Amino acid sequence: MLRGTHTGHCAVLFVRLLVGASVGACLLCLPSSAEDELASGREADTLALPQPRRASQVSVEEALARRRSVRQYPDEPLTLAEVSQLLWAAQGITSERGYRTAPSAGALYPLEVYVVAGNVADLPDGIYRYRSSVHGLIKVAEGDKRGDLCAAARGQASVRDAAAVIVFAAVYERTTAKYGERGIRYVHIEVGHAAQNVFLQAVALDLGAVVVGAFSDEAVKRVVNMNENEQPLYLMPVGKK
Ligand SMILES: Cc1cc2nc3c(=O)[nH]c(=O)nc-3n(C[C@H](O)[C@H](O)[C@H](O)COP(=O)(O)O)c2cc1C
Repeated sequence: MLRGTHTGHCAVLFVRLLVGASVGACLLCLPSSAEDELASGREADTLALPQPRRASQVSVEEALARRRSVRQYPDEPLTLAEVSQLLWAAQGITSERGYRTAPSAGALYPLEVYVVAGNVADLPDGIYRYRSSVHGLIKVAEGDKRGDLCAAARGQASVRDAAAVIVFAAVYERTTAKYGERGIRYVHIEVGHAAQNVFLQAVALDLGAVVVGAFSDEAVKRVVNMNENEQPLYLMPVGKK
């Protein structure tokens, strides 16, 4: 499996992933989003994220007890390490077989995770898609899109004021191909798992977060520049407290 490397403290390190013949052998162990990408023949400029930590001083019980929706944030940047940790909590790979932090029906992984960055140190403003397989980011749009996303979410100020907004989308077909109509239920359950992971991780990092379900699907899809087969499900504004 391809792996990300540590970034330096300041510099944004772009790693050119070479999609060559050797990649074919790796396809078996890559989750579907990465497979789609490689199958499309695209090379990817991937920003390698700092490796996530696996331990902290905050117990699960403490995180559960302290979790609260936070909708106002100071004008302070998140660090790239914090964003990395939140994305890992959402869909990071935690086993050599490709299993992730959140469970997935049939291990089919229908979720795609984006980050709309507007105030993250060492990360240019823009929209990025998280690639679990390499723990990295692919840029899908440049510039601060939080205002547009806020408008798409009925003007909710939390979306505009957060340093970054994590956006969950799903490719339903990955799950319904196996489970039929019931797969739709599974996808919705899965986004809850992933979002709660992010929520508890945010608490452990002493960050503020909220989940947002009130938005125009079409407008969010347009702002985030999603693929046609992706449907937006949940927004998570995150910032310092
Ligand atoms: C499915 C879902 C959708 C939600 N949508 C929004 C939303 O659009 N905007 C918002 O500010 N909060 C939203 N919330 C957060 C709830 O308002 C919040 O969880 C509730 O008030 C309880 O507060 P707590 O999270 O601090 O325990 C949503 C929560 C859920 C579970």
